[in-house]
Amino acid sequence: MSVTEIAADCYRISTYIPEIDLQFNQFLIKDEEPLLFHTGMRVLFPTVREAVATIMDPSEIRWISFSHFEADECGSLNEWLQIAPAAQAACSTVGALVSINDFALRPAKGMNDGEVLNTGQHRFRFVQTPHVPHCWEAGLLFEETKGTLLCSDLFHQNGEVKPLTEQDVIDRARKTLIDYQAGPFANYMPYTKHTDGIMQGLASPRSIRGRSHQCTPQLTSAMAQEDWDLKLCE
Ligand SMILES: [Fe+2]
Repeated sequence: MSVTEIAADCYRISTYIPEIDLQFNQFLIKDEEPLLFHTGMRVLFPTVREAVATIMDPSEIRWISFSHFEADECGSLNEWLQIAPAAQAACSTVGALVSINDFALRPAKGMNDGEVLNTGQHRFRFVQTPHVPHCWEAGLLFEETKGTLLCSDLFHQNGEVKPLTEQDVIDRARKTLIDYQAGPFANYMPYTKHTDGIMQGLASPRSIRGRSHQCTPQLTSAMAQEDWDLKLCE
């Protein structure tokens, strides 16, 4: 496990699992109302809690947000709700109504497209992104004061990658998508008739340290060019 402050008060918690050549990353934004984006799976809970404890008291986490309902995104949500009495999940309204309000110990804050969650010094705008990167309930958070997109599985790269880079990540993301097509994770990211519009929306305004306007269209192209027979909505 490693903890890196990738921007002021924004920390990446990363655990690399060599057997599957994959990192699981969570992001902690330390603020008046601290926000944890993605929890990791239940098995990672002790590790992530320990990592958070190097930065702040884990019991003071206020918001637990995530893109979609999968174990690596929110598997230990209930463990966090148990140790942090003021914590509440923040996810899409679809996610709250369809899964979280039944799965979780306490109801979630269901967010609609464009809704802003203010945590003190930071403003997180919820962007509804159905099926991007995947799952009906998917959404992302765009932190408006620093221009940071918490992009979940978009730009997914296998391997143990560095917390910060100025290099092009598209080739690595494209390779991951292609590699996954050969195994049980095939059809990982659907490309639908809505994908282009959602990705264009994510590319503007500035995000991912100001570069997503360049690399988001390239990722869309990588998703579309592979003839994966994934088109859901035509
Ligand atoms: Fe996912």
